[in-house]
Amino acid sequence: GPLPQPGPGQLLVRVRASALNRADVLQRAGAYAPPPGESAILGVEIAGEVESRGAGVEGFRVGDGVCGLVGSGGYAEHCLLDAGMAVPVPAGWSWEAAAAVPEVFYTADTTLRELGELGAGQSLLLHAAASGVGTACIQLARELGAARIFCTAGSAEKLARCRELGGAAEVIGIDRKTQDFLAEVRRVTGGAGVDVVEDFIGIEYLAKNLAALKDGGRLVVVGLLGGWEGSIDLLPLVLRRLQIKGSAMRPRSIEEKRAITRTFRERWLPLLVDGRLRAVIDSVFPAGQAAAAHERMESNESFGKILLTWS
Ligand SMILES: NC(=O)c1ccc[n+]([C@@H]2O[C@H](COP(=O)([O-])OP(=O)(O)OC[C@H]3O[C@@H](n4cnc5c(N)ncnc54)[C@H](OP(=O)(O)O)[C@@H]3O)[C@@H](O)[C@H]2O)c1
Repeated sequence: GPLPQPGPGQLLVRVRASALNRADVLQRAGAYAPPPGESAILGVEIAGEVESRGAGVEGFRVGDGVCGLVGSGGYAEHCLLDAGMAVPVPAGWSWEAAAAVPEVFYTADTTLRELGELGAGQSLLLHAAASGVGTACIQLARELGAARIFCTAGSAEKLARCRELGGAAEVIGIDRKTQDFLAEVRRVTGGAGVDVVEDFIGIEYLAKNLAALKDGGRLVVVGLLGGWEGSIDLLPLVLRRLQIKGSAMRPRSIEEKRAITRTFRERWLPLLVDGRLRAVIDSVFPAGQAAAAHERMESNESFGKILLTWS
């Protein structure tokens, strides 16, 4: 199709790498439509060079390396990016690493720190810990000073790699296929439970997630891989002062997304630049093999991010 023209405040990016997001798989299946006015092309995470700028753009020049979150249209050689949501690519980074960073660290920051209020010395139960978002959450939880992180994943190999990301935090791996996460949390905490649960599974885990919380604990629902409709017993919520919070990135206003980008640039980008934090890359596919990349994601075998590259 015709090259998109950058509107006021927008950058036209020559895309070099696009990251996969589980939401792309849902969108492909017709279950997650892009917001009105957005491209029908898949993809929300990109990195590349600024090819041209719309009116009023400050802080970026033609040729600069940028990465960031877009509403849609990321699986393409050209993509529009709001300048307020663009992040300069640090020197020496690959395009793949740059594309892999923004969305997972934005999500980890808004859900663990802001909504989960995960603090120093606290404990976290993190589901889908080997996912793209999960691998960022382990690292952020560690930096926020979490003492103990219970990680669920689908294999012993993935759990061993989760442990390496935990640093000083104690990581307790739970194989979701062979172990009961609630029983494990109860056993290790002597029945007390955790301060925060970060969940991507939804209704399937809801009752057990609530049961895994300490009194006053927070459950943050960030994904719904196991479905979203059902009913629960609200009595423990009331008696134990539990909180359930939800979050998605896509439906937020552009102002909110710019604020999230600014927070990321101030708080976490410096730690990524000095190597304390990193994007975990599972695999890289040429863009022409996007279908194989989606198959890899749907196999549930990946650890970290899956990328597409454009030559
Ligand atoms: N709210 C937000 O702002 C936001 C932003 C980004 C992503 N997300 C959501 O976060 C989740 C992870 O995204 P991602 O791109 O990081 O995913 P990903 O890398 O594809 O990882 C997802 C992992 O979840 C596990 N899983 C899949 N289906 C499951 C099921 N039915 N029950 C239990 N575990 C299951 C699998 O790992 P194991 O087999 O090892 O458990 C799979 O590898 C998705 O739900 C996505 O929509 C939300």
